[in-house]
Amino acid sequence: MNLDWPSPDDRIGDVYASYAPIYDALFEHALGDTDFYVRAAQARVPAGGSILELGVGTGRLTEHYLRAGFRVVGVDTSADMLERARERLAPHGERCRLVHGDMRSLALGERFAMAVAPFGTVAHLLADDDRRRAFAAVHAHLAPGGVFVFDDCPAWIAGAAGGTTLDLRCTGRDPATGARVRLQTNLFDAAGAPLSVRYDFIDWLDADDRVSRRVVVRVVFRNVGLDEELALLAGAGFGRVDVHGDFAGTPLDRERPASNGRLVAWCHRGDD
Ligand SMILES: C[S@@+](CC[C@H](N)C(=O)[O-])C[C@H]1O[C@@H](n2cnc3c(N)ncnc32)[C@H](O)[C@@H]1O
Repeated sequence: MNLDWPSPDDRIGDVYASYAPIYDALFEHALGDTDFYVRAAQARVPAGGSILELGVGTGRLTEHYLRAGFRVVGVDTSADMLERARERLAPHGERCRLVHGDMRSLALGERFAMAVAPFGTVAHLLADDDRRRAFAAVHAHLAPGGVFVFDDCPAWIAGAAGGTTLDLRCTGRDPATGARVRLQTNLFDAAGAPLSVRYDFIDWLDADDRVSRRVVVRVVFRNVGLDEELALLAGAGFGRVDVHGDFAGTPLDRERPASNGRLVAWCHRGDD
């Protein structure tokens, strides 16, 4: 199959430039992951300590960390998403540092008790080498005993999709106009292919629920099998990796992949 996949370098920024103005309205309350990530930090990071957040986006989760008393260094490739994060997190002052950078070539000169990559951020690493570089960079930024926690929903969990349906994901209100917005997605997994393509239809609705404006965003994801993912993490130096099938800590069911809601991975630095 000949599909013209974009690379993370040339397209990811564009994707999130389209999303940035409406991202929080759509996703602020749609994900159910914030309690998990805050509790994970409370279990692993000393009070007032620093967390490294990769793909920090608009600071959706970051704000919860800062409110819980942690410091955060947040990294993202999208200038538009970071601009939103800067506005949102300004009241927290120097407890939050935002870095316009790429997790594949991170060199912050600082080590952390915990690094996180929430909401499928690792799926944007499209080639094995992108993952190798990113995982090695994260590993190098962990203090002894540190842990890297990420979640993802690869095709082996989500199930193959033929791209024939438009599924309602979430709704919100445009903060600029008050108009109702909704996100519908159309996912295509080429059978056995390492990448999935998702078209996201962001619709602004008028008072009669008719579409008054539509933005279509093309997002490409990498589907890495579990064994391959674990091998890439081991290759980057990680030790034990605990994999759960949801944010409640249910062990991942390898026999029935589709019964898992999500892949949630706790990757230990390798010295504990
Ligand atoms: C799905 S969003 C998640 C944003 C935020 N963590 C959240 O949970 O709301 C993924 C984010 O990862 C960023 N991103 C993608 N590839 C990246 C890379 N190689 N390095 C750093 N950030 C990246 C995108 O710009 C985007 O803001």
